Parts: sequence; structure tokens; C-alpha cells
Amino acid sequence: MIEFSQRLRTLPGYPLAEIPTLKRRLLEAGVDVIDLGAGDNDTPPPDIAVQTMNAALQDPAYSKYGFQQGLPAFRQAASRWVERRFGLRFDPVTETLPLIGSKEGLSHLPFAVVNPGDATIVPEPGYQAYIGGSILAGAEPYIAPLRPENAFLLELDQVPEAVLRRAKLAFVNYPNNPTAAIAPLEYLERTVTICRRHGILLAYDNAYCDLTFDGYRAPSIFEIPGARDVALEFFSLSKSFSMTGWRIGFAVGRPELVGALTRVKSYTDTGPFLAVQQAGAAALDQAEALVAPIRAELKRRRDAAVAALREAGFSLEAPKAAMYLWVALPAGIPSAAFATHALEETGVVVLPGSAFGPAGEGFFRIALTVGADRLRAASARLGQALQSVHRGALASAS
Ligand SMILES: Cc1ncc(COP(=O)(O)O)c(C=O)c1O
Repeated sequence: MIEFSQRLRTLPGYPLAEIPTLKRRLLEAGVDVIDLGAGDNDTPPPDIAVQTMNAALQDPAYSKYGFQQGLPAFRQAASRWVERRFGLRFDPVTETLPLIGSKEGLSHLPFAVVNPGDATIVPEPGYQAYIGGSILAGAEPYIAPLRPENAFLLELDQVPEAVLRRAKLAFVNYPNNPTAAIAPLEYLERTVTICRRHGILLAYDNAYCDLTFDGYRAPSIFEIPGARDVALEFFSLSKSFSMTGWRIGFAVGRPELVGALTRVKSYTDTGPFLAVQQAGAAALDQAEALVAPIRAELKRRRDAAVAALREAGFSLEAPKAAMYLWVALPAGIPSAAFATHALEETGVVVLPGSAFGPAGEGFFRIALTVGADRLRAASARLGQALQSVHRGALASAS
């Protein structure tokens, strides 16, 4: 018999793990399922990425190992994009690192800085790669709850001093998944200050920086003075360009920090497919034109869903960024039971807040991954699910 590691057994359940099976069962039964679970947009990838990929596939040079150096053209395009987007300079060779999606870099990062028993600070609710990467690297994740009364900000000054002393890494993500919260500059300043004081590596996950609405502009952590000493920033082409399956992102930071992650990666992977890097470079060079319609469509979806959910009996604010709605449930309704009920009774897939850890309880997450009409239909169905819960559906089911 094979005995699995303590680390494997300590990993929490992955929030999306059971949904595909349940969804398949409903689809087979002919149910019109509306899947608002995964953050995987229904819009196609940019033509320029597809054409560049096609051309690269014809050239055998792109079929070689990329290694960590990868494709210089990708690093250069990433560096140019960061400069255009934030006015910040990062050297393409020493301060930019291609990733097989930002998840890969985020989850490998703990290996670069933690020794067994060191703490990492992870937000809850939060993206699961932070806790997973921490546990797999032998760290002890300290769970920092994101609460509505703190505007869902991970406040490091509320982390006990003893934890800050043994923390090596903090994961901070704004615009946030799943809450769609955004970070004011003064929040980022205090976060950088605490990381500098305690020598904590700040992994700033900016996967949603381009998905912003109503004139809001998401900053880079490196706009904060002193951040270069302690931060690595992670970007993704997944959401900005509807390229989730292509697996391409990148990290930027000072050479020592990028070098440490590069060293870890040289033992675990051989970099993204070079053809994908070439396609990613093409997309990044046209980012402004390509992202604008995606952002406009998401705003349409956000407005439609927020209005329809309010009409259906939910109370929520319209978020300024990301591609999610984090919807509060009336007190006393467990989110997992509600999500299961909504799926089985109305065919709508939402993620229960509790799937992101206990601190996510009391909410569910909607991904704005289908058009406005489908979101309106889904919202009405979720309203029906809520009404039937109020009439006692969960009590009679249990
Ligand atoms: C907060 C956050 N960070 C990172 C990622 C990973 O993106 P990718 O690995 O596709 O670049 C996701 C994906 O959902 C996310 O929600």
C-alpha cells in the first residue's frame, strides 16, 4: 500500500473539484445548466494570439525546450507592457520571468523562501494556490480572514506579532478573487512597510489588474516606494486576454527575487511552450486594444447581474474590478447548502463562500463568464432558489 504524505493529506479540498461531476450529471439529464463557477470567460482568445501561435507551430524552433530563459521576445514584450501600463522599468533578462500561468509561479514561490515550520500569510477567502503551495513547501499557512468590515483587505497589522516574526511570505491579491475588492494606495503602503520591517516577501498577485470599471485603475505594487526590496508581482494573460488554457503569465521583481524563483522552477518545469510565449508577446504588445472590449463586455455583464440579483432579493454592491460578484447570503443560510440547492434545483453553478475556507462563509461567488442575458436568467433562478430556501427547502432536504 502507498501511504501519502502528510503534506498531501493536509491540503484542503479544491473548491472546483466536485462541481464538474454534478454538472455533467445535470447536463446528461437535459438540464439547461448555467455555469458561473470557474473564472473562465466565454470570450475567444485574440485573433493575433491564434495567428501568431499558428505561425509558430510551423517553425520547429518553437518546439524546443524553452527552459527558464524562455523566449526573449516574450520577456521584452512583458517588460514593455509593464512600462506602458505602470510607468515602471523591469529588465527583460534579469527582472522578468515567464510562467506557465501565474498559478505556477505563485504556488512554486514558497519553495524559494520557506523552511519547514516557517509561516506564510494567506488570505481567506482566497485563491487556493497560496495555501496549497505553502503546505506543499512545508510552510505553516497563517490564515488571514478577509472581512467585509475591513473592505476585504488583508491587514498585516492585525496578524499577531509572533506570526509576523516567523512569516517569510505573504500573498496579497487585489483586485481580489473572490471578493472583487480593490486596494487603496495607502493600504499598499502600509503593507509594504510591514513586509520591509519583518523581511517578509510580498507576493503581489495582480492577475485581474486589467479588468477594471468605472474609471478605476489598478496599481502595481511597485508604485509604492520601497516595494522593490520585498515584492514580486505576478501577472497573467489568462483573464485579460481570455487565454486561460494557454498557460502563460509572468513575474517581475528585482533580480535576486526573480532569480530565486527561477532556480526553483529550473527543477520543476521547463517553462511555457515557446509558441505560446510568442503568441503571448503578440497579445501583450496590443494589450490596450485587446483588453478594452473584454473590459467593456465584463462591465455590461456586471451591471446586468448586479441589477438582476438585487431584483431577485440579494443585496450587493457593484465591484470596481475583477470578474466576480461576491454575494452575501441572508444570515443563517450555509453557503455550501445554498450552492448545491441552486445547482440541483435551478441548474446554476455558483461557488459557495465556504469553498474558499471558513472565512468565506455567508457569501457565494458568481463569475461573470457568460453574456448579460444568461446572467439575468441565472440571477432570476438564484432568486427562486433563495425563495425556496426561505420557505424551508434546506431544512426539509437535510
Ligand atoms: C487570484 C488569482 N491569481 C492567479 C490566478 C491564476 O491565473 P493563471 O494561472 O491562469 O495565470 C487566478 C486564476 O483564477 C486567480 O484567481
